[in-house]
Amino acid sequence: MSLSPEITGAFPPPAIPLSPVISNLSFKLRPSSSVPSLLDVPHKLYVTSGRAAISLALEHAGIGSGDDVLVPAFHCESMISPVHWRKATPVFYQIRPDTQIDLEDIKQRHTDRCKAIIATHYFGFMQDFQPLRQWCDENGIVFIEDCAHAFFGKSGNLSAGQSGDYAIASSMKFFPIYDGGILTSSRHTLENIPLRKPSWSVDTKVALNTLERSISYKRLGVFGWLLQKGLLAKNLLWQYLKSTTNIETKGPSSSEGAYGLDEQWIHVATTRTSSKLLKHSDSDRIAHYRRRNYQILDAALGQLPGVRPLFSSLPENCVPLVYPLYIEQPERHFRQLKELGIPIWRFGEFLDPSVTEQEFPHSKELSRHIFQFPCHQELLNRELDWMIQNIQASLTNEPQGEPHGLESVPHQRVC
Ligand SMILES: Cc1ncc(COP(=O)(O)O)c(C=O)c1O
Repeated sequence: MSLSPEITGAFPPPAIPLSPVISNLSFKLRPSSSVPSLLDVPHKLYVTSGRAAISLALEHAGIGSGDDVLVPAFHCESMISPVHWRKATPVFYQIRPDTQIDLEDIKQRHTDRCKAIIATHYFGFMQDFQPLRQWCDENGIVFIEDCAHAFFGKSGNLSAGQSGDYAIASSMKFFPIYDGGILTSSRHTLENIPLRKPSWSVDTKVALNTLERSISYKRLGVFGWLLQKGLLAKNLLWQYLKSTTNIETKGPSSSEGAYGLDEQWIHVATTRTSSKLLKHSDSDRIAHYRRRNYQILDAALGQLPGVRPLFSSLPENCVPLVYPLYIEQPERHFRQLKELGIPIWRFGEFLDPSVTEQEFPHSKELSRHIFQFPCHQELLNRELDWMIQNIQASLTNEPQGEPHGLESVPHQRVC
């Protein structure tokens, strides 16, 4: 199973949170949710990750050995491993330089063996999938709409998740939760998919990890400081329990930044902790701050020499996952920024080996040149300023700032 470079120790952990951490403002008793989202789709199943949701969609649709699944050439491993789990074969199709799917290429690659297609709304920017929807209906193809980057949003009249036979989300990317993916469908009830509940020990681990991540980034004020002392005692107790009992202490590796698929976590429900946190998260606040932070990053970075924003504007209903920036000389800046603790990553950095430069030049280019900078709702203004100053300095060759002063930060998900 492959791991992100932060986990293997190639780079220091991000100095500011790469994905949302809980703060005093994250939750409300009665949260507001006027933003269109995947939660508007009628049938839903709350699982451990986006890759588990893709696996369940393929299984529910009866995809298996001898079938082909059309998959974008610009992808991450966690979109491919569910296809292999079903013993089906991924067939890659072209993505255009602006991340739009190439329907003409899809039509050319389609054979009688093709039974399903995965199509992704990259970085939170929703695509118009109506022509694809129509083609799938005409050809009896199961359409899995990948909303891992687009939990919220609308394209035309359709909200995220309403175009596919199935849709999947990776709720961990948008909410400050440790585990979580969603499988939805407007066409199937999903009632016959069996899920087991995670054990109480895993639930406890999830609750503690969620707090620990937040405290390591100095959220939760005095309460957090007091909790930190308690968490030291918890680590000792946990070590003791692990060595003396056989309680389940490992959560899904998808929550720890691994790219592969843990088969034992496919038919498992989201933990009670993460379900509660998801239920009480304020979607309107998430949408507001993600859009605001995206616009701040765009104003500060979008015009610098040697770069250009991947998307020329932020559409009205878009809730971005990240701020994607095209960097002309990526190798020069990637290492430098990573070593400073800037939380950047490249989606699709490790494409399937069969995706070659010759056949899929656009996907290869996107995977090398697009840097993703976080714009999530839990970034503090001073963290945003620190990140911007260091990126500007790196891109304009000015002397670098000091690394951010955080001692020890738990691993974070990157894909
Ligand atoms: C586009 C896309 N689809 C699916 C997934 C799988 O989501 P998860 O990491 O929750 O398994 C990812 C993961 O990053 C992704 O980026």
